Amino acid sequence: MSKPTIVSMPGDGIGKVVLPAAIKILEKAGFEADYVHADIGWEFWEKEGNPLPDRTIDLLEKHKVGLFGAITSKPKTEAAKELSPELQGKGFEYFSPIVGMRQRFQLDLCIRPCRSFKGNPLNFIRRGKGDSIEEPEVDVVIFRQNTEGLYAGVEWTDPPPHIREALNTHPKFKRFNDVPGAGLAISTRIFTQAACDRIVGEAFKYAKKFGYKSVTICEKPNVIRETSGMMLETGRRIQRDYPDIQLWNTNIDAQMMWLTKNPEDYGIIVAGNMFGDIVSDGFAGLVGGLGFACSANIGKEVAVFEPTHGSAPKYEKLNPSIVNPVAMVLSACMMLDHLNETEKSKAIRDAIGKTIAEGKVQAYDMMKLTGGPDVISQGAATTEALANAIIEKL
Ligand code: NAI
Ligand code: MG
Repeated sequence: MSKPTIVSMPGDGIGKVVLPAAIKILEKAGFEADYVHADIGWEFWEKEGNPLPDRTIDLLEKHKVGLFGAITSKPKTEAAKELSPELQGKGFEYFSPIVGMRQRFQLDLCIRPCRSFKGNPLNFIRRGKGDSIEEPEVDVVIFRQNTEGLYAGVEWTDPPPHIREALNTHPKFKRFNDVPGAGLAISTRIFTQAACDRIVGEAFKYAKKFGYKSVTICEKPNVIRETSGMMLETGRRIQRDYPDIQLWNTNIDAQMMWLTKNPEDYGIIVAGNMFGDIVSDGFAGLVGGLGFACSANIGKEVAVFEPTHGSAPKYEKLNPSIVNPVAMVLSACMMLDHLNETEKSKAIRDAIGKTIAEGKVQAYDMMKLTGGPDVISQGAATTEALANAIIEKL
């Protein structure tokens, strides 16, 4: 097989630290690839009025696989202020480059595995019988629909008259009829059957391939009857092709309540964009939080792998860096799986597991310290030291 070319997009802040650390680990694991750098993030908003330049899109289009660190984004007014003076007032509008990538390449599957590593001090524990403490092993993979739902961007404050007119044809809109335009904000929740088929279908395929016993549709079909209902019906239909895998159905609110009660019972979870965002953060919190949360955005052609965390500007300038590279490294492992390099991804995950189990080298978050330059004198590892410890276990 020819050597793949990986589009490397460090982005902003700590993205510039964790991505090189992950690439170093990939190299030490024997993964042979070429890396091309691509520009993305705040710097390019300021300088060019576009945080996702066309040249980056072209590189992704050409090479199909991207590793992405993190970006900084800021609210509308701040974004406008920070645009370089010669671009101001020329109609540039900030748009999230992550959402941009997802929409441009139809990266409709967002996969977020949440697996506990034995010995991670951040693992969720709960009270068992008597005085006992239980540490359930969490192994949940969230499949979040990534391009539709409440994040589709079809929304208005003060909707134009023809929209109001159309909405008025729905009997349940009648009670909003008298609300003045400026006092009315509407965000639509759009699901398509094709997208439901794809996310649920891929979730069942994954469950079968990796031996999960259940697929849970986590929505709210008793209230949001049309969209959540479509997802649940899709689950029921597709499950018929997988008699050995159970279909479970939970409501997002109840799921968050049960999160800490029996997280070990869940396997694959499927949800729309918003609920998938919520439930994946919930499960990530049980297995170490942002320092451990990895994700894949997968389309039919292009795939981009990224940690869930952002650019953590607080730590951007710390030298040496103290942030945990594991989330980025686990995202890189998902890339290896995508490229069918599963032996190498397993080797890296095992090396992370051994490093954590041994407990000698820990990032500040694992020691439950408040981040800052002094964590190193308190025994926390630098980003580099933790990456090197993983490499040693390889
Ligand atoms: P954040 O994820 O950047 O950081 C929140 C806090 O989590 C940090 O202050 C730190 O305490 C901790 N943290 C994050 N990553 C860590 C790591 N690898 N190791 C150890 N601790 C870690 O979220 P925040 O502060 O809300 O946003 C900062 C910027 O990042 C904003 O501009 C935001 O828009 C952007 N952002 C970008 C994302 C992305 O690129 N995918 C996702 C979330 C936020
Ligand atoms: Mg989120």
